[in-house]
Amino acid sequence: MRLQGKVAIVTGAARGIGRGIALRFAMEGAKVGIVDLKEDECRKVVEEIKQREGEAVALTTDITLEGQVRQCVEKLKAEFGVCNVLINNAAVMPSGALHETLPQDFDRCISTNLRGTYLMCRAVIPGMLERGQGSIIHMASITGVRGLPGLAVYSATKGALIALARAMSTDYARQGIRTNAVSPGTIDSPMLHNFLAEQSDPERYRKMFDDMHPIGRVGKIEEVANVCVFLASDLASYVSGASVVVDGGELTA
Ligand SMILES: NC(=O)c1ccc[n+]([C@@H]2O[C@H](COP(=O)([O-])OP(=O)(O)OC[C@H]3O[C@@H](n4cnc5c(N)ncnc54)[C@H](O)[C@@H]3O)[C@@H](O)[C@H]2O)c1
Repeated sequence: MRLQGKVAIVTGAARGIGRGIALRFAMEGAKVGIVDLKEDECRKVVEEIKQREGEAVALTTDITLEGQVRQCVEKLKAEFGVCNVLINNAAVMPSGALHETLPQDFDRCISTNLRGTYLMCRAVIPGMLERGQGSIIHMASITGVRGLPGLAVYSATKGALIALARAMSTDYARQGIRTNAVSPGTIDSPMLHNFLAEQSDPERYRKMFDDMHPIGRVGKIEEVANVCVFLASDLASYVSGASVVVDGGELTA
């Protein structure tokens, strides 16, 4: 129970990596706010957590909207107390080379991946400052430090999140708030499954992804969640401003 006493918000927690982090956090003793766009899907994750005797609340929120973000943080406080762990995980990933990306897709990506993160931070930081304690994790990606074809706008937001964690650390670390980024490589997630399903030979593509990683396979959602547990916990009391890469060695191969 490494997260006993923590009150956490996980954005984008209705599915994929966010859901995995939320489930794991609850099993480590955290009380978890499940933030996502769709009410039914948030509720389903809360039910799963309750079935395992964890504590969670559904906080249906569009993180790009300031009023909804404020209400979400207030609801969490009323239910469980002041938020002391924030996982900024929600994101969208438009694909295509830059000149092919439509302005509305560019705006949506910046708005979700960056503005949403900013709004969530802005809403929780005053409570963390009052208590002199908090851990904020931005879910970045190895695309934030290396180029991959067709992902320019998404990659730009992920690079910005790594810079944001570093810069925020200089503002807040002395006041007890640690900010870090986590940069996954390819993770076995619904996002990957959808991509594979669109290919003419999904098995060949799957093997190609597995072979790309020195460890010989793509990552598991739990392997990203493990790193988040560490960074959110007091075990990481001297870790701030870092970007922790979780990619089976892909970046350095
Ligand atoms: N899957 C991978 O291989 C991989 C690799 C590197 C980084 N990542 C990062 O990990 C995170 C999670 O990835 P995933 O694969 O689980 O993604 P996903 O698309 O499966 O889940 C993202 C969730 O965010 C929610 N969301 C989107 N916009 C929102 C908004 N405005 N307000 C609230 N919620 C919103 C979606 O509804 C969805 O449930 C993302 O930040 C992604 O960039 C994923």
